Amino acid sequence: MTRTLSAPLIESGAVSRLEDLELAGGLVANSTFALGNVAEMQIPAEEGALLTFLARFTSARTIIEVGALTGYSTMALAEAVGPGGSVITCGSTGKWAQIARTAWQRAGFTDRIEPIFGPATETIRAFPECPIFDLAFIDADKARYVEYWEALVPRVRPGGLLIADRMMSPQETGNARAIGEFDAYVHADHRVEPVLPTVTDGITVARKKPIQPQEAGR
Ligand SMILES: C[S@@+](CC[C@H](N)C(=O)[O-])C[C@H]1O[C@@H](n2cnc3c(N)ncnc32)[C@H](O)[C@@H]1O
Repeated sequence: MTRTLSAPLIESGAVSRLEDLELAGGLVANSTFALGNVAEMQIPAEEGALLTFLARFTSARTIIEVGALTGYSTMALAEAVGPGGSVITCGSTGKWAQIARTAWQRAGFTDRIEPIFGPATETIRAFPECPIFDLAFIDADKARYVEYWEALVPRVRPGGLLIADRMMSPQETGNARAIGEFDAYVHADHRVEPVLPTVTDGITVARKKPIQPQEAGR
């Protein structure tokens, strides 16, 4: 990760960790840039910093990510969970996976990142329908955001976060309709409290509400 991304967030004295992270972040960013247009899908460093911050702020130890690409955002989340924590990512295959693996190794994160290949909805639904995740990050095909959301909400703990990327993408990306429908869906969902900070292309950050007394008995 770049200095902007990690410097304020790394525990004091962990200088070599910082160097490892910078190298790994630079490695994955450069390798992804070399792939051409694909690189536009990667979150920018400031969003990585925000993800790390939000995950740390909520003391997240178990995270699920939908949309790995070459593993940059995965690293931002893995930094936050710390040793013994876990980031499950709906992973890529082929060259993208190879870049991710190399960067995760360089960052020392292979112990805490588990890529699972295949359609993300199936991956999520394979987990028990109970609150096992502290945080979920959605950054994949926009047309399926509502589907991912429905699979994820029951699996995120009360007080945990659901974060969705690119909520204010330019109209010309062709995703405007799907994003609009997802935004309306989230705002009508009584299980969460959402906000939409205009960071980069806008990210939805929704806190799952604590269980209400009348719901606990159901
Ligand atoms: C926007 S990129 C993710 C970028 C990544 N979060 C980052 O910042 O580096 C979207 C990713 O979602 C993956 N994807 C798209 N549809 C998917 C699906 N149905 N199941 C699993 N992954 C999917 C793509 O292969 C791609 O890796």
